[in-house]
Amino acid sequence: MNLIIRNGHVIDPSQDIDGLCDILIGDGKIAELRRHKAGVRNKKINAGERGEMNAGEVQTIDAAGMYVLPGLVDMHVHLREPGFEYKETIKSGTYAAIRGGITSVCCMPNTKPVNDNASVTEFIVRNAASEGACSVFPVGAVTKGQKGEELAEMGMMRDAGCVAFSDDGRPVMDSLVMRRALEYSKILGVPLISHCEDLVLAAGGVMNEGLLSVTLGLKGIPGQAEEIMISRDIALAELTGGRLHIAHVSTAGSVALIRAAKKRGIARVTAETCPHYFSITEKAVEGYNTNAKVNPPLRTEKDVEGIMEGLADGTLDVIATDHAPHHHDEKMGEFDLAPSGISGLETAISLSIRLVEKGVLSMSGLIEKMALNPARIMGIDRGSLRPGLPADVVILDHKKQYRVDASRFLSKGKNTPFDGMLLHGLPVITLVNGKVYTWD
Ligand code: DOR
Repeated sequence: MNLIIRNGHVIDPSQDIDGLCDILIGDGKIAELRRHKAGVRNKKINAGERGEMNAGEVQTIDAAGMYVLPGLVDMHVHLREPGFEYKETIKSGTYAAIRGGITSVCCMPNTKPVNDNASVTEFIVRNAASEGACSVFPVGAVTKGQKGEELAEMGMMRDAGCVAFSDDGRPVMDSLVMRRALEYSKILGVPLISHCEDLVLAAGGVMNEGLLSVTLGLKGIPGQAEEIMISRDIALAELTGGRLHIAHVSTAGSVALIRAAKKRGIARVTAETCPHYFSITEKAVEGYNTNAKVNPPLRTEKDVEGIMEGLADGTLDVIATDHAPHHHDEKMGEFDLAPSGISGLETAISLSIRLVEKGVLSMSGLIEKMALNPARIMGIDRGSLRPGLPADVVILDHKKQYRVDASRFLSKGKNTPFDGMLLHGLPVITLVNGKVYTWD
């Protein structure tokens, strides 16, 4: 099938494009981008050009008034399969992703069994190829069973398709194991994604530590539980020269540590945050709202400001969702016992586009953090509209207002603190390898 997306406002930081363009798509790939002359709509496609595109029927999509973006790349997603299919499957999770304009997901290894060997990786790759609505890139576990003791067979898993390693959901508490993992990551040329949490300091905590946790009678997790581990991991990245990527940064103090490390230029460190850390605070937990229970926990106003500063000045390279779907029944239990996590794929772009309105990021800067940078960090050839790449494209109606209705999520996980919130900015069409999905 050949296709032309006309008259859209194309943003592609990989090619420095921010303006009206037509995109020609052939055989599931980007064939060409044609920039409009200032303010002029391009003429209709003629027969000769159809010939160039090497097909009879050319479908046209008019994207006037819309943003046309590279399909977003989410480097931090829990797809739950194998083992927790009642929470999410590769199929439901990838459909949720494309509904949210995300066309590539990297899936975390805390499945059952854990993705700590090549057979589990192969299962995910195979299943994603047959069931998945978008590209799936597995992240392998750093240690066997994510126990933090013995390194997993990282080389074999890389060969089977893992693009990075992480024990996400848990930190690697043993500094020597972490050191070795960083050394291997360097040899393998892949990033090591660190879930930074000092388990001893955080023990038993279920929300941010502060006046509110005391008032609610809940055990808190201080920001330092994250910051201590970030400091350690930066030191280990300096020691080893390994590629460290810090997951789900939640505090202003963490941003300051990463900023300083980048300034020194010794460690190869990158970092991500998630929409919930710059959109809401610990106040969302009031009323014992388990849908606002997440790890690391939602923090304070000061932290939200720190995160936004980190995004603005480039300290934080990536916005990822940490999509963590859980079953309604589990989330409906007592706050202390409910699992942590937010179902984030279907609200990420609308929450993040608010950063553009606030002047924190330009639209191009936003797409850098949601498509180009994660693709580069993970070493995957996506996040760009360069000719020759798979035609993964999202057409975004940035003005379209809607009220979040979690019951209508394509994800099985309806656990979101944003349910009922008025947002705007919705994908109207998502293309994956040139295949068109239209959303109402
Ligand atoms: O809130 C979280 N949920 N944080 C994590 O690190 C893991 C995730 C999960 O797997 O549910």
